[in-house]
Amino acid sequence: MAKAAKAKALPDVEKLTKAQAKVEHTRLTLELEGHDKRYYQDDAPSVTDAEYDALRQRFNAIEKRFPEFVSSDSPSQKVGAAPSGRFKKVRHSLPMLSLDNAFAEQDVIDFVGRIERFLKLSDDKIDFSAEPKIDGLSMSLRYEGGELVTAATRGDGAEGEDVTANIRTLEDVPQKLKGRNIPDICEVRGEVYMTKKAFLALNERQKAAGDTIFANPRNSAAGSLRQKDPGITASRPLGFFAYAWGEMSAMPENTQTGMIHWFERCGFKTNPLTKLCHSVDQLIAFHRKIEEQRAELDYDIDGVVYKVDRIDWQERLGFVSRTPRWGVAHKFPAERAMTVLRDIEIQVGRTGSFTPVGKLEPVGVGGVIVQNVTLHNEDYIKGIGNKGEVLREGRDIRIGDTVVIQRAGDVIPQVVDVVIDKRPKGAKEFHFPKKCPCPLHTDVVREETAAGEEGSRARCTGEFACPFQKIEHLKLFVSRRAFDIDGLGEKQLQHFFDEGWVTEPADIFTLPKRNAKLKLEEIEGYGETSVRNLFAAIENRRRIALERFIYALGMRHVGETTALALARGYGSWKAFHDACLMVAKGDEETIAEMDALDQIGDTVIKSVAAYFGENHNRGIVERLTKELEEIIDAEKPKSNSAVAGKTVVFTGSLEKMTRDEAKATAERLGAKAAGSVSKKTDYVVAGPGAGSKLAEAKKHGVQVLTEDEWLKLIGE
Ligand code: IVH
Repeated sequence: MAKAAKAKALPDVEKLTKAQAKVEHTRLTLELEGHDKRYYQDDAPSVTDAEYDALRQRFNAIEKRFPEFVSSDSPSQKVGAAPSGRFKKVRHSLPMLSLDNAFAEQDVIDFVGRIERFLKLSDDKIDFSAEPKIDGLSMSLRYEGGELVTAATRGDGAEGEDVTANIRTLEDVPQKLKGRNIPDICEVRGEVYMTKKAFLALNERQKAAGDTIFANPRNSAAGSLRQKDPGITASRPLGFFAYAWGEMSAMPENTQTGMIHWFERCGFKTNPLTKLCHSVDQLIAFHRKIEEQRAELDYDIDGVVYKVDRIDWQERLGFVSRTPRWGVAHKFPAERAMTVLRDIEIQVGRTGSFTPVGKLEPVGVGGVIVQNVTLHNEDYIKGIGNKGEVLREGRDIRIGDTVVIQRAGDVIPQVVDVVIDKRPKGAKEFHFPKKCPCPLHTDVVREETAAGEEGSRARCTGEFACPFQKIEHLKLFVSRRAFDIDGLGEKQLQHFFDEGWVTEPADIFTLPKRNAKLKLEEIEGYGETSVRNLFAAIENRRRIALERFIYALGMRHVGETTALALARGYGSWKAFHDACLMVAKGDEETIAEMDALDQIGDTVIKSVAAYFGENHNRGIVERLTKELEEIIDAEKPKSNSAVAGKTVVFTGSLEKMTRDEAKATAERLGAKAAGSVSKKTDYVVAGPGAGSKLAEAKKHGVQVLTEDEWLKLIGE
């Protein structure tokens, strides 16, 4: 509606006078620059792609009519910005997930151990494909009838950007798959990378032309791929290694290494260092060998990847949350650097917890400039670990100290040591605040551990009365994985909060009707378009999925995965809300039901009880739900199986499958795998040695099945 009105309100470009066109050109330049920065640098766009495209088209039309307005720094001249719009979004037919990390050799031993226990094999040995972990950008290439149809970046895993035109310029990516009997649909996944040599040469050229200098080959590969002009991508030498797949209408091979050879036969490059390993020792030896070769390779790698070779076993192992059980990335040791700690500041998080943040003299570690480093808590600064152990041989951290920092992959940088020899005379000990730095100066307490002892984390006791906590909660509320309100970035939110316009989530939804008074469009740098877009985004979010809603409430210990488990467990907001109120009242049966949900335990239940036990929070939730049109019921996993919607408890030792595997299968079939028996339990699957749960089942009259009966029931 709003867009149509705007389109009508603007005169045709052909009808503009030169003076009018100049004014609009200047305004659009600023607006587009702002959008480009938010999109390309902050990754936080405030308009939809269609809205951006409309602005771009009008801008281009003005420049076409008045070429004299074009200057070298016009948005139309910039690489990285998109002359004819942005990349389309592509939804991945199967999500592009990531791998769990292993750092120590013990982590690798544990990884293999977990797999062995899960698969419960008697004689068969597990082979692994060991591959270098290429530090580039993952890409999904979709072939239909053997022809390349789409190339998409990983994006957030569910949706990426359509970079097909650019990918077509890569020599390593065949337009048509070679060979016979190519399945009709093949999604080939792998890594786009730039060689170190090409990266250095590109930076030389960029420097000479006064253009962006890239920090590392990965960034330059990303920058080269995100070009609107495929001609520019073609001029940048990018490579591609195939190592995985997405949707396949048929599987041509039944092992990971078999698939890698198949990719080669189809015309892809695969990494020549890939090796089939038969034991943990061989995996660790592979890691050592590749680490030795790392510096000589002409492309960046940040570790190695191990994958269970047999695909049927990969399928059995499946995923835990967002990472597969069948694979792991064994990273190389983190890179380290020395720098000076200039100051320590306290950050108050959404739940009031205090994090001391070290402000560093900026330093480059592994291609990234690091300026902030987490110092975790008061004890950590003093040299005491979470379990009371001595850290850094007892060396405390003082302001002015020279510290050794380490960065491993995407992990937040850490201080690993203090160089005492370099400690200046005036180095200052840090005194942890006793009061919250918020204007309320509320008392700070140290959290209790599960064992009831004093923990290391300090928290402000102000809860929602503490403005830091309120604003952090609001930030979480509007964030991508919660309400995802486009156009309400941290800056605007802080501004609205400081002005007292938005102090709780419901206030966001009443902004449109209060705007006659607030006049948000008069805020500097905001403007009519931004306000219109914000209001459209707000309207869009009056319908919200239950799991997002639960996550957005910001309860402690209820992250995305837990929110999803709760949403799936209760199905509807009403059922969940009723249960929370009962849990807050201490109703034992409801607590037991919640406890019986998979992935939900005591910590979450205590947190739910604390949240809903607080009058103020119930008010916040009530006012918010009044503003919404619909909280959409959670999707049930699978509804056409014999056990869909049923609650099952596994007990005793199972012989044909492990407990984890049995639970995972039940969930895949739409059943709830619970940890304890209640009268709501439908089946108890009992193996030899079943004890109290079997007795409970008998007490509640729950049907008891043997493992074989269960397998028959689910059709396996
Ligand atoms: S397999 C379920 N193999 O590492 C994920 N990934 O955290 C399957 N990567 O996003 C990925 N080299 O960008 C795989 N040989 C390799 C890889 C590799 C690099 C990247 C990839 C992925 C990330 C995993």
